[in-house]
Amino acid sequence: MAEERMDNLLYHPELHNETVVEKEIITYDVITEEDADEVARLYAEHLNSGDSVEEHVKEGIKSPDFIGFKAVCNGKIVGMLTGRGGVDFTYPHPELEERLSKYWEGKKVYTPDSVVVLKEYRHHNIFNELGARLVPTIYERGYEILLTELWIYPNGNVPAEATVRHWGELVHKEDIPMFYKDNEKYGIICPICGKTCTCGARIIIMDVDGDIKPEE
Ligand SMILES: CC(C)(COP(=O)(O)OP(=O)(O)OC[C@H]1O[C@@H](n2cnc3c(N)ncnc32)[C@H](O)[C@@H]1OP(=O)(O)O)[C@@H](O)C(=O)NCCC(=O)NCCS
Repeated sequence: MAEERMDNLLYHPELHNETVVEKEIITYDVITEEDADEVARLYAEHLNSGDSVEEHVKEGIKSPDFIGFKAVCNGKIVGMLTGRGGVDFTYPHPELEERLSKYWEGKKVYTPDSVVVLKEYRHHNIFNELGARLVPTIYERGYEILLTELWIYPNGNVPAEATVRHWGELVHKEDIPMFYKDNEKYGIICPICGKTCTCGARIIIMDVDGDIKPEE
C-alpha cells in the first residue's frame, strides 16, 4: 500500500501530514490516552525507567493540559514529543524553579517531558517535524514560555538542542552538571548511567509565538 503510493509521482506526502523515511511512510498525529502504554514503554526504554516514572507518564497523558505528538510507521510509534503545562522537571528542583521563576512571571509555562525517536528512524527530520506541530499548538493553548530541560550526555552531547533552539526567542540558558544526581531517591533509572546518574541538563527558557525560527 505504502509502496503503491510512493510509486505514484503525483503523491505528495506533506499534503497528507506524512513524511517518508527509507520508502516508509511516517504519519503524524496527536497522542491520546489510548497510546499510554506505548508511550510509557518508549519513555522507560529511551529516557527514564522506574515505577514512579510509569505512573508519572500515564497520569500526564490523562491531564487536561497534556500536549503530545507521535510519528507512526506501520501502526507503531517511532517518535514522540510530549509535555504538559507548568514547571515539570524530571523530579522537583524547588530552588532552581524559584530562581528561574523571574523569567516567566505571570506567563503560562509549558515543559516538554519526552523527546524520543527510535534509533533506526533518527536523522530523518522526524523530531523537527514533531516540533513543528507542537510549537503552534502550545501557543494556541495560551502558553508563551517554553521551559526545556535538555539531556546532556556524559560525553557532552545535547542531541535535542539542534531542534529546540528554533522553537522561540532565547530568554535564558544554563548548564547544570549532575542534574539527575537524586534520581535514585525518586526511583528513576537513567538508560545510560543506571541508578547513579552523572548526566547534566541544559536549561533553555524561550518566549514562544507559535512560529519555528529559522537559522540566524
Ligand atoms: C534527540 C532525537 C529525538 C533527535 O531525533 P531525530 O529525528 O534524529 O532528529 P532530526 O532528524 O529531526 O534532527 C533534528 C536536528 O537534530 C540534530 N541531531 C539529531 N541527532 C543528534 C545528535 N545525536 N546529536 C546532535 N544533534 C543531533 C540534526 O542534525 C538536526 O539538526 P538540523 O535540523 O540543524 O539539521 C533522537 O536522537 C533521540 O531520540 N535520542 C535519544 C533520546 C534523547 O536523547 N532525547 C532527548 C532528551 S532531552
